[in-house]
Amino acid sequence: MAKVAIIGGRGKMGRMFARAFRKQGHTVLVASRSTKLTPAQAAAKGDLVIITVPIRDTVNVIKKIGKHVRKGAILTDFTSVKVRPCKAMKKYSKASVVGSHPVFGPSVGLKNQHFVLCPVRGSHAWYKQALKKMGLRVSTMTPEAHDRHMAIVQCLSHLSNFSFAHAMKQLKYNPNKEVLTSPIYRVKLGIVRRALDTDADLYTDIETENPYAKQVAKAFKKATDTLEQAIREEDKKGIKRIILQCQKHFGKLKQDMREKINRLAGFL
Ligand SMILES: NC(=O)c1ccc[n+]([C@@H]2O[C@H](COP(=O)([O-])OP(=O)(O)OC[C@H]3O[C@@H](n4cnc5c(N)ncnc54)[C@H](OP(=O)(O)O)[C@@H]3O)[C@@H](O)[C@H]2O)c1
Repeated sequence: MAKVAIIGGRGKMGRMFARAFRKQGHTVLVASRSTKLTPAQAAAKGDLVIITVPIRDTVNVIKKIGKHVRKGAILTDFTSVKVRPCKAMKKYSKASVVGSHPVFGPSVGLKNQHFVLCPVRGSHAWYKQALKKMGLRVSTMTPEAHDRHMAIVQCLSHLSNFSFAHAMKQLKYNPNKEVLTSPIYRVKLGIVRRALDTDADLYTDIETENPYAKQVAKAFKKATDTLEQAIREEDKKGIKRIILQCQKHFGKLKQDMREKINRLAGFL
């Protein structure tokens, strides 16, 4: 059994994975700014060292503890962006390095959730096995491919949620008062409300620390500007053309997905 040092182990993700590693019989050492065991001491002891601190602090923590991680150990981080932390882990340590991203939050269980690994240096075989034993669906990709993909999965989807909420605020429309709503609107509202319920610092960091976020935000602005102009000019042909182009790009919604969304809409 291994020693797993979790820097930020008292946080939401840290606690969840501390439990999962303990369940497999590993010894878990937890360190943060408020623990007696310092992050450097924990890093020196771990066979696996996980850094799970806020995104904005991750590279600084890597700089501080990287040199303490043993050469034979595995160093990883749980941050939702991968290019910058992976580069830093490679530069500031001599350990095996693999970036990690649990693509889910603490409110869902581990089973069947997606977990991305970005191998940088050396072997991380037993760590990958441990993750699979937790019931996680583990994928491997480069840090660049991860961040490019997450710029869509996270940056674009959060951006559209927050723009939706911000527009309502600007319109002084109170989403809590209205009773006359459609089923699909209730699904959308539920998604936006859930996004707003999450840690604002985390979402701010996701939008600013993903190197591909700016490119995605620019495309989003261009898309909304085009639609705004078409609506302003009452350009029916233009609006319909955009919808048809998107329908073609997305393809047909699979029957089982359509049923799931309809069921959810009916349920809400
Ligand atoms: N929450 C999610 O939905 C989610 C999902 C996927 C990935 N992630 C990633 O997981 C990481 C942690 O997120 P979280 O939501 O678990 O955060 P969190 O609940 O805020 O926990 C962060 C932990 O880091 C510690 N910490 C903060 N600054 C530190 C520093 N300079 N040195 C050492 N420890 C420090 C804090 O403890 P002290 O205050 O005691 O230092 C705290 O225990 C983030 O990088 C995030 O991108 C989060």
